[in-house]
Amino acid sequence: MKEKLQAIREQAMQRISQADGLEKLNEARVAFLGKKGELTAVLKGMKDVDPKDRPAIGQMVNETRESIERVLEETKKKLEAKAREMQLEREVIDVTLPAKKNSVGHRHPNTIAQEEVERIFIGMGYEVIEGPEIEYDEYNFEKLNIPANHPAKDEQDTFYVNKEIVLRTQTSPVQARVMEQGKLPIRMISPGRVFRSDEVDATHSPSFHQIEGLVIDKNITFADLKGTLEEFAKELFGEETRTKFRPHHFPFTEPSAEVDVSCFKCGGKGCRFCKGSGWIEILGCGMVHPHVLEMCGIDPQEYTGFAFGVGLERIALLKYEIDDMRLLYENDYRFLKQF
Ligand code: DAH
Repeated sequence: MKEKLQAIREQAMQRISQADGLEKLNEARVAFLGKKGELTAVLKGMKDVDPKDRPAIGQMVNETRESIERVLEETKKKLEAKAREMQLEREVIDVTLPAKKNSVGHRHPNTIAQEEVERIFIGMGYEVIEGPEIEYDEYNFEKLNIPANHPAKDEQDTFYVNKEIVLRTQTSPVQARVMEQGKLPIRMISPGRVFRSDEVDATHSPSFHQIEGLVIDKNITFADLKGTLEEFAKELFGEETRTKFRPHHFPFTEPSAEVDVSCFKCGGKGCRFCKGSGWIEILGCGMVHPHVLEMCGIDPQEYTGFAFGVGLERIALLKYEIDDMRLLYENDYRFLKQF
C-alpha cells in the first residue's frame, strides 16, 4: 500500500508540474482527488484493509492527499500570477502617448440660420409647424393651384414615389394642410427639407431646405406682407437693409412678388457679392390666391392672407458668405467649425 501511495503521489506531482495553465491544473486535481480520482479510489478500498492497519494507512492516505493539495494550491497561485502578468503586459498603457481629444461638434450653418429665422418670426407671434417630406401630389401641387400641365410636375423636376405621392418639391403644401384644419386666424412658419431632381452644383442640390410662411386673418393686405418681410430682412441682415418687391408669378398667390434686399456687403453700391447690382434676391411671396383659400375650405370674402417661401441654404450662404452650396453638405469639420 505504501508503495502504491508513493507512486500516486509521484504521478500527481509530475502531472501538476507539467500543467501549463489553470485548466490543465484542474484536470490534474480531478484525476487524483476527484470523485473518480485515483486517491479517492484508494480511500474507497479502505473497507478491505485489515482493521488494525486502518489507522496507519488512513494517515498515509491523508498525508498524500494533503501534500498533493498543497502543491496544487502553490501551483495554482503561480499560474494565476503568471496569467496576470501576461495580461498586464498585453494591456500595457503608454502614458506618454498623446491623449485622444474629445471633440464636441456644433450647430450646422443651416441650423443656425433656421433658428435665427424661427427666432424672428416667433418674436412676431408665429407658430412653427412641421409637415411631411413625403407628400401627396394633391397637396404639393393641386391644392396650390398648380395644374397638371405645369412644368414643375414634370418627372424631370420631381421625384415621384408613385402617381399620387411625391417627395415634396416645396414647403408650400404645409400651407394647404394648415388651412384645411380650419383653425383661424393662422400665423405660422414651416421649415423643412424639400427635393428636386436637380444636378449638384455650386447653387443646386437635389435636397435642400425652405421655410414657408403663412398668415390668414380678416383684413390682411399687401401692406401687412410688406411690413412683415421688411422687418424680417432688417432683423436678419441689419437695420440699414432696404427691400425691393418685384412683381412675379406663383400659381398659389395673386399678386405675387420676389423680394430683394440691398446688398449687405456693399450697402447697395454694387460689388462682387451682389454681382454688381446692389440687390440680392432672398424670397418669393404673395397674397394667397382666393381659389387656394376656397380649395382649403376658407371663405375668401371673409378672410385674406399672405404667404412667403425662403430658401434656407440661400440665407446661410449669404449670411456666412459661403460661395459654394456643396460645402454645406460635405460636413467637413474643418469647414463647419468656422461658424
Ligand atoms: N414654393 C415656392 C418655390 O418653391 C416659394 C414660394 C413663393 C412660397 C411664393 C410661397 C410664396 O409661399 O407665396 O419656389
